[in-house]
Order: sequence, then structure tokens, then C-alpha cells
Amino acid sequence: MTYSKNQRAILTRRSFVRLAGLTTGGIAVVGGYHALFGQSGERAKESGLALREPELLRVRRPEPGVVEAEIVASHTSVTLAGITVQALSYNDTVPGPTLRLREGDRVRLCLINHLEVPTNLHTHGLHISPEVDNPFVHVMPGESRLHEFTVPKGAAGTRWYHPHPHGMVATQQFAGLTGAIVIESSLDEIPELQAAEEHLLVLKDFTILRGEVAASHSFFDWLGKYGNLCLVNGAYRPKLVPQKSLLRLRLVNTSNARPFRLKFQEHPMHLIVTDDGFIEKPVTVEELFLSPGERAEVLIQLKRAGTFNLLHLPYDDGNFVVGSEPAKEEALLTVVVPATPKRLPLPTRLASVDALSPEQAVTTRTVQFGGAIPFNYTVNGKQFDPERVDFRGRLNTLEIWEIENHNGLIHPFHLHTYPFQVLARQDAKSSTWRPEPFPAWRDNINLSGHSKVRIAVPLRDFIGKTVFHCHISEHEDRGMMGVLEVEA
Ligand code: C2O
Ligand code: CU
Ligand code: CU
Repeated sequence: MTYSKNQRAILTRRSFVRLAGLTTGGIAVVGGYHALFGQSGERAKESGLALREPELLRVRRPEPGVVEAEIVASHTSVTLAGITVQALSYNDTVPGPTLRLREGDRVRLCLINHLEVPTNLHTHGLHISPEVDNPFVHVMPGESRLHEFTVPKGAAGTRWYHPHPHGMVATQQFAGLTGAIVIESSLDEIPELQAAEEHLLVLKDFTILRGEVAASHSFFDWLGKYGNLCLVNGAYRPKLVPQKSLLRLRLVNTSNARPFRLKFQEHPMHLIVTDDGFIEKPVTVEELFLSPGERAEVLIQLKRAGTFNLLHLPYDDGNFVVGSEPAKEEALLTVVVPATPKRLPLPTRLASVDALSPEQAVTTRTVQFGGAIPFNYTVNGKQFDPERVDFRGRLNTLEIWEIENHNGLIHPFHLHTYPFQVLARQDAKSSTWRPEPFPAWRDNINLSGHSKVRIAVPLRDFIGKTVFHCHISEHEDRGMMGVLEVEA
């Protein structure tokens, strides 16, 4: 659905008045967010520089298959879009350094907290024990915590890491605490993938104000904070001159709230990896939607010399203050193909993905996202309570979860520890379920306003307490999170 600017203004105002009536007793404000708060932020000082990837995290390999490294969270000055700013960083870079691992690696990763506030480290999308990847622990200023785990088989793909202390995620993440995790496996040796030119694109929006990444949240930011600068690996519209005609892009949306609706000019994209692994064969898509927290890998066959942009297309996420973002299509990355390239083929087969069969499920649960936005956000009518167990599951069983969005904002659902498969989706105002076209492992799935999603969740390998939540960090911080405890 596309709206003209005028229609959008009217829509925005109407939904605002509706919401204001609901939550604040009807204060009337006209005009966009930026007009209201003057928080438009600085413009980029540099653009079009050669694409750079985040540094690799420096690791020690004391013996084969063992990886040791430290990640230090601190308040430092970094360069974003050519501007020197104060930010929160991992190992002094934003985005943080990329942790590159292989399936089967034994990892000892130490988080050191040099911030003035508590934090912790979440390895988003990794199927490891919730005792290790534990959002309930807080690492106090000056303290550290060791995460020891084995990278599971079948984990090839792109993950990421970020803080998870309840109530503080949004401000820490917005200020820069994000980094990618890349997991290699024998699937990367598929000849067509070997022939491709690989690039990691960590996407995130920022607002830079008075020399700082503006991490404090004003009232309306609790709808989901947007930044005015959409950066790729911390750079504004970097430029890539590829050497090969087949690109493999690893995409991570590390924004607090901004979904990226992506399109590559004049070329389709071929999806090969979703959040948690390879799919069976490439699936051709014209657009790719990445909600906050979501990852995907795509192949692009460059077909001729020319300049092509990776575009971020307008999308109305129901956030009545921000409206549709971006207002018009925006280039994130410019790819300059110098000469008509020799065509490289796509792989025909990737991995085998066992489709979960819902008949084997032992329970069906309902997860309702709601609340009195933007004051509080709820799951099944309740705000998060770390002491309460919302769902109790049994190890080695399959469950069906039906997730329902009860308002007009988007809510990307995310479950820790246990990757799932989407079975079907239902749009707003429709009562028919659309079955998912192919099986894929995910840990994030977007719910547009008033939509529903049905997923199959295998509770495999680990027991313990873990969480599920909306991955708009503001919604999560204000309560849209629940606890799942899996018992033997
Ligand atoms: Cu990426 Cu619980 O989060
Ligand atoms: Cu996570
Ligand atoms: Cu949400």
C-alpha cells in the first residue's frame, strides 16, 4: 500500500489522535516527530567511501577448534558517517567487531563491562544453553562474564550480539552496542558460493546530536526509536566496486525499531539463508523485508556494467509519530559494476531442511502482543516479570505457538534458544491462513499491525529459563517479553 504525502499526514494525525485518546487523554499535536522534538540529527559528513566491513574480533586459538576472545563494552569516541561521536561500543568500534566462528568450535567469550551501567551479552540466534546465553544476569560496571559454548552443527549463517539487561536494552543498543557473528560450515564450500564475493552489511540507524549518538529516549521514542541516518557498517552510502559478478550479501538489521524493506536496483535477489540457517535452494525475491533483529543472506547476479543501489523502501510500520519511513526510497549502498561481467551460476541445492510436522505438537500456545502504548507493552495482558514463568515446556517436544498482534504497530516476535519454523501467516482483516511456501529456520518473525503468525517450536537440546519478546527494543524494555522454562 502506498500513500501520497498528504494522505500520509492525515493518516498519521488520525492514528495519533486515536492513540492519544487512548493513552494520554487526548492532547492534540499536529506535525511529525522531528518537528515536535527538533531531533532530526546531524547529516552525514562523508558518503560514497569504499565499503568497509566491521573489523574481525581478534581471537586466540590455543588449540584446534578452540576460540578465545574478549569483548569490552565501553563509552568511547567513534566515527560514524564521517562524524566523530561519543557512543557505546564493543572494543572501541561501532558496529562491534565480527565474531567469525565455525560449526563445532568451542568458544570462550568474555564480556568485560567498562560502562557506567549494568549490561550483559546476548548471542542472538545461537542455539546454546540459556544458562550461558542468559538475559537474566547483569554484569555490573567493572565486572566481566565468561560465555563458554560450542557452536552447534547446522548453525551456518549470520547471527549478532547485543546487550539484554531488561529496561536498558533500547538505550544501550541505540548508542552502538551491536556486532555480527558469522558462522562458517562446509556449506560455504558449495562451488557456486565459493565463487561469490562475500560482504557483511550490518544495518543500523543512528541519530547524532551535539557530538553524541542520541541515546536518551523522549516520550514518543518509546513507540520505537528511529534514527535519521541509515548506515551500513557505520558508513553512509558506501560504495562497492565488486571484482566478481556474483555477490553474497550477509544482511543484519541491528536497529532498535526500524524495519528495512530492501530492494536491489534492476536485479532480483536470491535468498539462501534465513535467520538460523540455509534453506533448501535459492528463492528469488524482488524485495527483502528485514525486521529489527532479523538476518538474511542473498546472492545477486550482476548482469551488466552500471551503478546500482541497494535501496531501503518506504514502509509504514504503524508508528504514528514517525509515519512511513523512509518517506521515499533511500540508497543504503551503491554498487558500481565497471564492465559487463561474465555470468556466474547460482547453486541449485543448498541444505536439507526438515519441515516440522504440526501433528506432532504436544501443545498450542497463544502469544498476544498488546498494551497501552507507548506507556507499557504486554504479552497476554502482562508486562515482563523475570520471576514469573509464563510458559512451561518439556524437553524434546514440539509446540505450536500462535502469535497475535493486537494493535497497529509492527511487533517482530523473537524467541531465544530454540529456532523455529513459520507454518502460516494471517494478515489484518483476513481470516485465512497463508501457509509458508518453504521450510526455513528462523528466530525472528515480523507481525505487521493486527496480523497473526503460527510457528512450530522444537524444544531441543537445552533445559532452562529463556525469553521471547518483541524485538523492537523499546517495546521489550517496557514489558513486551515473556519467560519460557523448559524442563527435562
Ligand atoms: Cu536480539 Cu532477546 O534478543
Ligand atoms: Cu535473541
Ligand atoms: Cu513491539
